[in-house]
Amino acid sequence: MTPLSSNPTVPEDHGPEGNERLTATTGALLLPLFAAEGVTILFLRQLLTWHFFIGLLLIGPVCLKLGSTGYRFFRYYTGAPAYRRKGPPILPLRLLAPLLVASSVAVLATGVALGLLGRDAGPVPVLFLHKASFVCWAGLMTVHVLAYLWRLPRLVGADLRRRSARHGAAGPGGTGVRWTLLALSLAAGLVIALAGTPMVSHWNAH
Ligand code: HEM
Repeated sequence: MTPLSSNPTVPEDHGPEGNERLTATTGALLLPLFAAEGVTILFLRQLLTWHFFIGLLLIGPVCLKLGSTGYRFFRYYTGAPAYRRKGPPILPLRLLAPLLVASSVAVLATGVALGLLGRDAGPVPVLFLHKASFVCWAGLMTVHVLAYLWRLPRLVGADLRRRSARHGAAGPGGTGVRWTLLALSLAAGLVIALAGTPMVSHWNAH
């Protein structure tokens, strides 16, 4: 891998390397949550409450994923030397990223709108938008996951073993901050899910 910092006092699990690990670990957390949400779609009538709960829970980790990738984007385009040296993702993935972000936000936002407005909401076909954005999201996410899955064992494993990629013991600050952010994103998602899941009664009443 390209050297990330010419300053030997900066641990390599900080900066772009730490950001990449946070992005990957958040992705690894999202995978089983996506799988569980996928099961609820197959049995939507019976599992509608779980569909609401997991969908709302996802909001926390998805926001963290948008935050960590948005941070890399911001640092790269504002000229931070370490992020410039690491470079951007390869072109096809760079082109895919805005569509992936837009469809992810659309699926979650239309899901929340459906919960708030109920089945018979006004003239806007929110249910249609939810389904259409899901179909786009599923295609884009399949490509995204296939492109990045191979990196997860190295990046997530590095933090699980608490060792830095090159320099022996990992800086606890980097690993600690990443696990704290993950836990906070899950806690935020849990609060949203607990507060929002009762909205399912609008739907079950019909
Ligand atoms: C709604 C869910 C997700 C969103 C919105 C999202 C978004 C993004 C974006 C915008 C990027 C930066 C652009 C790019 O490299 O293509 C990225 C990078 C990445 N994503 Fe995701 N992603 C999601 C889920 C996942 C999942 C499930 C995985 C697990 C395989 C994953 C793994 C990665 C990895 C490893 C990177 C590269 C990080 C780097 O090079 O710094 N993502 N993601």
